[in-house]
Amino acid sequence: MTAIDFIEQHQPEYVEELKEFLRIPSISTRTEYKPDIERAANWLAAKLASSGMQRVEIIPTAIHPIVYGESAQAPDRPTILVYGHYDVQPAEPLEKWLTPPFEPSVRKGNLYARGSADDKGQLHIHLKALEALHKAEGGLPINVKVVIEGEEEIGSKNLWSFVIANERRLRADALVLSDTSMLGRGVPSITYALRGMNYYQVEVTGPARDLHSGVFGGAVPNPITVLAEGISRLHDKNFRVTVPHFYDDVAELSRGEKKEIESLPWKEKEFRKFVGASDLCGEKGFSVLERMWCRPTLELNGIWGGYTDRGAKTVIPSVAYAKMSTRLVPNQNPDKIARLVEGHIRRVLPKSVRVKFKVLSKGRPWIADYRQGIFQKAIASLEKGFGKKAVFIREGGSIPFVAQMQSLFKIPCVLLGFGLPDENAHAPNEYLSLENYFGGIKSVALFYRDLGANGNSG
Ligand code: BES
Ligand code: MN
Ligand code: MN
Repeated sequence: MTAIDFIEQHQPEYVEELKEFLRIPSISTRTEYKPDIERAANWLAAKLASSGMQRVEIIPTAIHPIVYGESAQAPDRPTILVYGHYDVQPAEPLEKWLTPPFEPSVRKGNLYARGSADDKGQLHIHLKALEALHKAEGGLPINVKVVIEGEEEIGSKNLWSFVIANERRLRADALVLSDTSMLGRGVPSITYALRGMNYYQVEVTGPARDLHSGVFGGAVPNPITVLAEGISRLHDKNFRVTVPHFYDDVAELSRGEKKEIESLPWKEKEFRKFVGASDLCGEKGFSVLERMWCRPTLELNGIWGGYTDRGAKTVIPSVAYAKMSTRLVPNQNPDKIARLVEGHIRRVLPKSVRVKFKVLSKGRPWIADYRQGIFQKAIASLEKGFGKKAVFIREGGSIPFVAQMQSLFKIPCVLLGFGLPDENAHAPNEYLSLENYFGGIKSVALFYRDLGANGNSG
């Protein structure tokens, strides 16, 4: 039996198994979910074993364990490193979910649950593809190393030290992962560029303690006002970031790439409808896709301070806060950008307040040359698996691990995304389309088989 026949026969079981995985609330940010994190890691280890891995290990780290599996039974064939993450974002606000986040439910061909798209469902695609090759075709056609972390949503703090400590053991000819999205329904996609991301927190202190706004108001600096004024100066009227030298190292798009992006089957009208804002905005002189994929940004992610509960409380708070992030594109350097942003923030805020600036995380952008052979094999497998034309896209999201692996191992990184732009990742009602899930399993099986078909040339 071929792996594809095997997959077609087992589809209902796959969904049941994925639901089991999705029922585990493996939320990495909250310590009270530690037992669920452990449960998810154990669950995965068992599935790796039944997918044909000979060696499976759960490796503890300072926070959440890494699950590792290895199969090395295809001498003279390429070795693929598969990456995924089993941790998920918190599910709040719970009342916005049509069905509870950890009670997976299928509606109109979509599987709804926290983690269905990001990333448990997409990771499961690889496990099932490997299992089908292993069980139906009498063994894996390639050598496989699987690294699954539980800290992606909190910045992959311990993954990198694991990689460095195991550099030889993890050597591979390519990195393969599914943690991105397709351009749209029916458009299988390979992502060849991701933006990098730096995340910051700003703390602005005015008076030494909270003050009565009637008694003191008018004579003392209000940190919320001061912070808001500073923030309002971070963009100009053309939506360009005002941080000096922010754009210095930004790689301009080639005419060829610009044309390719313009010719993608993407409809601004549908995008506008999904976003639901009265109008779009962004850096002058660039298309919507260019703004999201190819241009750097500075976004406010949160701003708070003072009284936010019900009713009124007349107070001038001592402190106000903002969380913000910059998305970075080639060839911006995260360390340099962090210094520039900090310098600018300190310049736009007046002497009347004290400023604490923290860099919570940094991550480099990544771009690949998809003319390399392995990308061509991958796109052919997607077209076969889905029976649809596949495309190469860039994306605005960030997976810092990809850039790190690319620079350490100098290997191609193949990002086969099976999510959708409106999948609600990190939001209520996250879902994975079952059509993409099954198309994904078939495509990945075909890809791995093809990689094994002609020796180590890849
Ligand atoms: N899977 C996403 C990244 C992603 C999503 C890339 C869609 C491209 C398209 C990942 O789990 C994620 O959420 N990344 C974070 C950054 C991370 C360091 C917390 C992000 O992009 O905000
Ligand atoms: Mn993810
Ligand atoms: Mn995520």
